[in-house]
Amino acid sequence: METEPVLQMRNIRKTFPGVIALDDVSFDLRRGEVHILLGENGAGKSTLMKILSGAYERDGGEVLIDGREVEIGNPRRSQSLGIGIIYQELNLVPHLSAAENIYLGREPSRAGLPFLPFIVDRKAMNGSARELLAGLGVNLDVRRPVGELSIAEQQMVEIAKAVSLDARILIMDEPTAVLTEREIRELFARIRRLKADGVSIIYISHRMEELFEIGDRVTVLRDGSVVGTRDIAGATKPELIRMMVNRELTQQFPKVAAPRGKEVLRVEGLNRAGVLTDISFSLCEGEILGVAGLLGSGRTELARAIFGLDRIDSGGIHIKGRLQRIASPRRAINLGLGFLTEDRKTQGLVLPLSVRENICLPSVDAFSRMGVVSRRREAEAAAKYRKDLRIKTTGLEQRVVNLSGGNQQKVVLSKWLVSRGDILIFDEPTRGIDVGSKAEIYELMNKLTAAGAAIIMISSDLPEVLGMSDRILVMHQGRINGEFSAAEATQEKILHRALGDTE
Ligand SMILES: Nc1ncnc2c1ncn2[C@@H]1O[C@H](COP(=O)(O)OP(=O)(O)OP(=O)(O)O)[C@@H](O)[C@H]1O
Ligand SMILES: [Mg+2]
Repeated sequence: METEPVLQMRNIRKTFPGVIALDDVSFDLRRGEVHILLGENGAGKSTLMKILSGAYERDGGEVLIDGREVEIGNPRRSQSLGIGIIYQELNLVPHLSAAENIYLGREPSRAGLPFLPFIVDRKAMNGSARELLAGLGVNLDVRRPVGELSIAEQQMVEIAKAVSLDARILIMDEPTAVLTEREIRELFARIRRLKADGVSIIYISHRMEELFEIGDRVTVLRDGSVVGTRDIAGATKPELIRMMVNRELTQQFPKVAAPRGKEVLRVEGLNRAGVLTDISFSLCEGEILGVAGLLGSGRTELARAIFGLDRIDSGGIHIKGRLQRIASPRRAINLGLGFLTEDRKTQGLVLPLSVRENICLPSVDAFSRMGVVSRRREAEAAAKYRKDLRIKTTGLEQRVVNLSGGNQQKVVLSKWLVSRGDILIFDEPTRGIDVGSKAEIYELMNKLTAAGAAIIMISSDLPEVLGMSDRILVMHQGRINGEFSAAEATQEKILHRALGDTE
């Protein structure tokens, strides 16, 4: 039986200087369905959602809710229409607590105090925030400033906030990009309950496996236009990928094993109180070492310690055969290390600067002669990566703040590729990146290892870890709890070790 869609967007148009972000896009959402929005980086997914959430104004077209035309105009209005959104880029206030963020602007006030009606009932607020998060399988101190939480925890706070709004239409723009397997399970269970309650969900993700797991229908966008809408039940992965990238993608993981060279990194008995315990491993030229583990298992902390961002209490780091004290990132870079951080917004990019400037930032020395930076050589290097990684921008001088999420991530990646380190640590390198571009990033990794670079790839995307690593370390509570060769590793084995099992 065909019921009237909860939401209809008709002939939506939106342009930015130099870009047609949405060109005549029509989209509808049924009651209680999960409708996937799929498309390459820069296809227009977030822009379409921001029109619904009132963050952007549309240039043309109409929006109908329950068959009646509505004007959205601003975020408050969108909320009052029953629309909730989890933005792709986290939107929390760092110095406020998790509870304060969740209830921002609608804090429960203490009843029975006639002269002080606006005093916030903190106990009630913290209690319900705790409950909400527990419902998502997360235990954290809701009084802590969210700026101190990990990105995954922040994402869970963001999700809790959206869920608490009791929206009828819930938009999730890449909610799982920063989550690991366990949180994703909890989130999916929650999505199923919401669906059963009649909530309609628009879901965006670049993890193809997820679409088939929770989607009912999928609409594919390409370059700001709708390519088509399909029932998930009848769709196949290759078909959707073809609709998305408009070309044949021969292999999702084009792994080419490079010859194994000398040992370039050896970590021995590394300790950092409460974070890392007795970490030892080695890494050779030509090798990709995958590092898997759950949220909070210490993977990023390990990278930070090696890169000189965090102090270590004891242990040795040998680079190319020599014991080194790496007290700062500058020292690490001089020793040939590169670190692509997982937190692109606060650590990876300078948002107001251009694509060119961001790409060339860590290697300014390489582009300058006697202190004078060569713009031309910078531009050449930036242009190369823009092409290789298909970064969608209006030009090299566009400010990165205006790029789509995935294209920002590509800029961060280029930045470290340009810097020419030969021991590269990539923390979630393909987070938020579309399948076509992912394959291109893997090709680049192949080129790097073929040229003798060594790569540590921290990733929560298990198909990627399995598809691209030569060897895999699994971390659990700050320790290495398992090592597998590419041949013996399976998704199941990795998950068991990540959960703390010892065999
Ligand atoms: N505020 C803005 N100013 C200028 N251009 C913008 C702005 N927001 C988006 N764009 C451009 O609009 C296009 C669509 O971007 P959008 O963020 O909707 O892509 P997306 O499909 O969400 O991609 P991703 O998968 O990378 O998140 C891109 O070319 C982007 O650079
Ligand atoms: Mg987006």
